Parts: sequence; C-alpha cells; structure tokens
Amino acid sequence: MLDAFTNVYCIIGNPVRHSLSPIIHNMSFKRAGINSVYLAFEIKNLGDAIKGIKALGIKGVSITIPFKTEVIKYLDEVDPIAKKIKAANTILNRDGSLVGYNTDWLGAVEALREVTELEGKKALILGAGGASRAIAYGLISSNCQLIITNRSLDKAKKLAEEMGCLYSQELTTEVDIVINSTSVGMYPLEEESPLPKCYLKKGMIVMDIVYKPLKTKLLKEAAKAGCITIDGLSMLSYQAAYQFEIWTGIKPDISKIKEDLKNALERGKDERD
Ligand code: ATR
Repeated sequence: MLDAFTNVYCIIGNPVRHSLSPIIHNMSFKRAGINSVYLAFEIKNLGDAIKGIKALGIKGVSITIPFKTEVIKYLDEVDPIAKKIKAANTILNRDGSLVGYNTDWLGAVEALREVTELEGKKALILGAGGASRAIAYGLISSNCQLIITNRSLDKAKKLAEEMGCLYSQELTTEVDIVINSTSVGMYPLEEESPLPKCYLKKGMIVMDIVYKPLKTKLLKEAAKAGCITIDGLSMLSYQAAYQFEIWTGIKPDISKIKEDLKNALERGKDERD
C-alpha cells in the first residue's frame, strides 16, 4: 500500500516510455516488502530534474539516454569507476547529497560470467558509444584482451586509447567473445545484424545488449552457427540488481528479475497484437 511514508525512486531519460526499469524495481520492492515506488520521468532539462530530486527527497534514480554523461557535473560525489567511464546510470540520495555510480559495467561482466570466465579471453566490442564505454571498462578490469570496432573508427580509436586496449576496422573470427553494443538489430533495424554471419564460429560467446526484439538477428544467426548466446535482458537485469543493492542493501534474485521481464515483454507483445 502506498502511503505518506512511501519512498520514491525513479528513472529519468528521454525517451523513457519503453523502459523496463519500473517493472524490475517495483517487483523487487514488492518482493522485498519495502514501502517504495519507482516511476519513470521523461525530462527535458537535467539541471531542473536534479533540483527536483533534491527538493522532493527522491531516494534513488536511474539515469538513461541521453543523460548518463551530462549528469556527472550535477552530482555532489561520483564513484571513481563512474568517473573513469565518464558516465553514471545510478544516483543514491545520501541524506540530501547525490552520489553517482555506474552499474552498467558490472551488468555486462556478470551477464558474461554466467557462461564464461573472462580472464585471458579475447573479446570484440562492436560500437564505441556510451554503453560500449561501460562494457569496455568491465572487460578490461576483468583482464580480457579487448578489441573495439565501430562504424566511426575515430571513436573506436579514442575509446581504445582511453581504456588501454586495441581497436580495429577489420572484423575477426579470432576472438572468444563478441558483444554488440550498437543499436543495429534494435527496432527499427531488426532486419540487420552488426556482424556478418561468416565471423560467427562454433563455441564463440555472443552477447547482444539490444532487447527489443529479444532474439535479434545477430543472436539468431549466432545460435544457428553453434555459438553460446546471451540476450539483452541479462545485462539489463544485472545492472538493475546492482542499483537495487546500492539503494536498499538487498541483493535481489536475478532469476526472478529475468522472469518478470520475460513476462512483461510477452504481455507487451499481446497488447500490441
Ligand atoms: P549508447 O549509449 O546506447 O551506447 P550511443 O552512445 O549513441 O548509444 O552509441 C551508439 C553506437 O551504435 C555507436 O557506436 C554508433 O556508431 P557511430 O559511433 O558510428 O555513430 C553505433 N551505431 C548506431 N547506428 C548504427 C548503424 N546503423 N550501423 C553501425 N553502427 C551504428
């Protein structure tokens, strides 16, 4: 029951109506028996939103596109890893002081660790945008040998230099892990794959951060080629679980989060039909 003691959490971004975070966090609050609610705010002005968060005493915030980098300058304190990634996806309101964290990198690492060790593995990241920055940090801090490639090669070069890894224009089959962190494969580009089939080989681990659709063209082709596939719900679930832990001190059950998301996506499909 919501009452005068209910704590408020939220996501801020633009657009934000597609976000699955309210489902994850509201279900997790319910399961943990915590009197809190999590809402989605589509905002235009980040500075004003931050003032509102402080004024209203909102306890915790998820930050999404396009504010993950811009938000840093408005925070009272920033965790050193978020500083290195130059992006925060999480705010904790600690007695009126806003502290920024990044849980995207942990989400990527944990999603991969479900199927493989990372130490000494060769990985290829497709893309050099905001999501790629966090994933690159996660893989390098797990001692992976990393190559970054991107449509705009100068961005791959810049990110690789910053993170201390390789970049390349050429694709390669000589890797153990491939991660798509571009928007290729996501609606409305769902008929496209960011990696031609010939680069997929049996036993390779292929992770896509796109979750709409859940089975992207890349993941379908990878499964056919005998690769181990990880869909976009995995990283999403883990990054949210770490946010929940920062806010409440409670580690939520990942399998329950994934189940909630699958059910919500199924329901969404029915509603669209
Ligand atoms: P995010 O925060 O989700 O990472 P982003 O910072 O806008 O979003 O990054 C999007 C990534 O997808 C970039 O690497 C982008 O490539 P460019 O740097 O060349 O723009 C990549 N991307 C988007 N659309 C693409 C397309 N049609 N083909 C190839 N790469 C694409």
